[in-house]
Amino acid sequence: MPNFTSPTTHRDRLQALYDLSLELAALRDLNEVLNTALQHCLALTESEFGFIGLTTDNHKHLDIVAIHGFHPQGKFFENTHLIPLRPNIFARTVLENRPTRSDDVTSDPHRVGQPAGHPPVGTFMGVPLRIRQLPIGMIGVANRPAKYQDDHEHLLMTYAAQVAIAIQNAQLNEQLTQAKIDLEHKVAQRTYELNEAKEALAQKAEQLKRLLDETMTVQERERQRISHDLHDGLNQLIVGAMLELKAGRDRLQSSNNGQANLHKVDIALQSVGNILHQVESEIRQIIFDLRPPALDTLGLGPTLRRYAEHYAAHIGSQCYVRIFGTPQRLPPHDEIGIYRILQEALHNIGEHAHAQTINISMHFQPHSFSLEVSDDGCGFDQSVAMQGHDYHFGLISMRERAESLGGKITIQTAPNCGTRVLVCLTHHS
Ligand SMILES: Nc1ncnc2c1ncn2[C@@H]1O[C@H](COP(=O)(O)OP(=O)(O)OP(=O)(O)O)[C@@H](O)[C@H]1O
Ligand SMILES: [Mg+2]
Repeated sequence: MPNFTSPTTHRDRLQALYDLSLELAALRDLNEVLNTALQHCLALTESEFGFIGLTTDNHKHLDIVAIHGFHPQGKFFENTHLIPLRPNIFARTVLENRPTRSDDVTSDPHRVGQPAGHPPVGTFMGVPLRIRQLPIGMIGVANRPAKYQDDHEHLLMTYAAQVAIAIQNAQLNEQLTQAKIDLEHKVAQRTYELNEAKEALAQKAEQLKRLLDETMTVQERERQRISHDLHDGLNQLIVGAMLELKAGRDRLQSSNNGQANLHKVDIALQSVGNILHQVESEIRQIIFDLRPPALDTLGLGPTLRRYAEHYAAHIGSQCYVRIFGTPQRLPPHDEIGIYRILQEALHNIGEHAHAQTINISMHFQPHSFSLEVSDDGCGFDQSVAMQGHDYHFGLISMRERAESLGGKITIQTAPNCGTRVLVCLTHHS
């Protein structure tokens, strides 16, 4: 550092100023700029202490951002660093945008006193920090053993111009660094979100693929079941009916005792009639399973109630069905979807839950519908069930179905705590 404690000649001063400006221009960090600049100012003006203040955004205060030459105690700095911009000895420098000097602060008419803990101030000089002629703050120096001279003022004004630029550069640098950090943070966040979405998508695609396979298997299974039902149920019944008919006809042909045989034929025809009744009810059951006709005629609420009560009786569980709100028709696609979800939920209860009681409630609201199916059965661990190693598709297909209707399904369960399936749909009626 050049020796500028006594820069006697004009040339010496210029050289010192030049050296200091170079040193300052090399700094990037705002705190370093402020502290180095202030140190230089004290040296250039042979002052005991000094400060740099910057005007706040609303131009109502001066924020003291650096002090040198005395060491405040306790919270002095925190409590006093914001100073209202009023025309006192030093703030005038900013308000009037010009250098100010006081040879004896204690008797200066602009004196307003100083905060407790501040060392006594004798001589004072302030110069504005300007960017494009407008003040952004000030440098204040104090307690030169002798008065501040025009030379000091001129020197400090010249140096302050460099300081203002260095401060502005450091501030821009800070903003740039912060913007870079923010940007990096946003990029990292976005990358993370994208990866999450990618993973979710891959998972979904895998589930869909499995669902497609399963859909075809299920279709095949259903066809088999229908053909099985037709064979074991209807075919057997029809064969039985034909045998009864044949027996009746044989008896008629070999009849020599008309009255007695007529009675037997009547019995045979009666049993044919019974069998045909069974055929008719079997057919109704098969059709009902394929597409519940009651949905079209009775509507959603009563159809779900009827199916649930029927199914619960079949598996030996108690079933309570409650309907809230004003039942109304939903689009056919939604109704059949909800019906299938209920079927799957009940099948799961029948197959896995060992429940004593099933509670079903439906809520009809003007723009939404919800179905809740809960059982007091064994419950299960969802994380295990959804891993789907053994290709269980009921839960997945319930979810897919609800989502394809634009709705949401929630399943609450835990081992030994029963299971609650909640489906919510919104619609525009
Ligand atoms: N209400 C329930 N109570 C107890 N366990 C259940 C219930 N619902 C589902 N689970 C458990 O979750 C598993 C997955 O059910 P999911 O319906 O997906 O498949 P699944 O019923 O085993 O086979 P399927 O593909 O034929 O439906 C079941 O194997 C069962 O362990
Ligand atoms: Mg199932």
